[in-house]
Amino acid sequence: MQSLLIFGRQPELGLAEIQSLYGSTAVRPVGDNNLGAIVDVDPCLLTFDRLGGAMKFCKVLTVLDTTNWKQIEKFLLQVAPSHSESMPEGKMKLGLSVHGIDVNIRVMEATGLNIKKAIRKTGRSVRLVPNKELQLNTAQVRHNGLTKPTGWELVFIKDGNQTIVAQTVKVQDIDSYSYRDRDRPKRDARVGMLPPKLAQIIINLAVGKLTESTMQNICDIPADNEVPRPILGGTVLDPFCGTGVLLQESLLMGYKAYGTDLEQRMVDYSAANLDWLADKYRTNVEDYRLEKADATSFTWTAPINWVACETYLGRPFTTTPTGEILAQTMGDCNLIISKFLRTIYGQIPSGTRLCLAVPAWQVKAGQFRHLPLVDQISEMGYNQVSFEHTEGNPLLYYRADQIVARELIVITKR
Ligand SMILES: C[S@@+](CC[C@H](N)C(=O)[O-])C[C@H]1O[C@@H](n2cnc3c(N)ncnc32)[C@H](O)[C@@H]1O
Repeated sequence: MQSLLIFGRQPELGLAEIQSLYGSTAVRPVGDNNLGAIVDVDPCLLTFDRLGGAMKFCKVLTVLDTTNWKQIEKFLLQVAPSHSESMPEGKMKLGLSVHGIDVNIRVMEATGLNIKKAIRKTGRSVRLVPNKELQLNTAQVRHNGLTKPTGWELVFIKDGNQTIVAQTVKVQDIDSYSYRDRDRPKRDARVGMLPPKLAQIIINLAVGKLTESTMQNICDIPADNEVPRPILGGTVLDPFCGTGVLLQESLLMGYKAYGTDLEQRMVDYSAANLDWLADKYRTNVEDYRLEKADATSFTWTAPINWVACETYLGRPFTTTPTGEILAQTMGDCNLIISKFLRTIYGQIPSGTRLCLAVPAWQVKAGQFRHLPLVDQISEMGYNQVSFEHTEGNPLLYYRADQIVARELIVITKR
């Protein structure tokens, strides 16, 4: 069975994440702007809820030699009745999502109603989830139970002159992400709110290719109060830990976590949040360590296997700053982050991998100013990790109206 992943708002992040973990050769991007990818990994080893960049996990049902919607509908009308017979009893729920195929919502709805009619002839009742857009979003899939045994979300992606037809098996657990984000006792709007799914992407980019033994032990993110999961081994250092989102997600993914921050208040916030995590998710309090430290000069305690962090991002702008103010903020951030990279250089073994979320500034819609250090990585003794399918494009996370974006840089110590 082939698996298809559908990525989020910034697909290149999901695409880089999956290449980081499984290697570029196991991944084939599909759809406009690489909105998804076919992943050649045993689906049992593809632990979906550890992937912050993937919204839907689908199994490929078939590939059609057409991209014509009428032909696709004809195929569906042939196979849907027999498929419905193999499903468990109960009202069936049907949803359709289309990517890159020339069809509008009205026509799609008519197709849905035709499929419904064909299935009803077999004696089953079906509810069609109405489309507001050509694709159902994760909340619609989740709340309509389309990944449950009586649910059936069909995803169609144009792939050259063929159409991939897939069925959604899992969708991103937005409730769990939101709980891990909003229910922590200590949050701080000033240091920013790193979404847990972005923290997962940063960790996966830092950890790099999973070994066979890690893959065998890899675990899903535990639900509340499930038994503790196996520790995969290895410590993630976050030298700008703030309220500890990266540490939290590292622990949930089975790694040990080491967090340091310049401000004692932040160290205390992280401690309170990780105690909460231990209580809610039964993570082990012995698996993390926290210290107050200036990342530009500190000596950390070994071992550090990976560095994953959201660095100092400078002033939070709500409107485009003047050139002078931007230059000053950029200079401050550049100094702190490059000093950190020089400081840690002598403390980690050669080959150690780091993923840093650093600031980039959106000065015009879709146009960014990058930190000078992004071009000086090599002079500092690091190699940039590149991902074949993202073609050297910067890995940016931002909302359209946001001035300060996060740019993910993935490097290894030479
Ligand atoms: C953008 S915040 C990180 C937020 C964090 N990801 C979280 O989960 O809350 C950056 C953090 O870097 C810390 N910081 C700034 N300069 C630092 C330095 N020189 N050394 C260590 N930490 C520093 C700030 O105190 C702040 O907590």
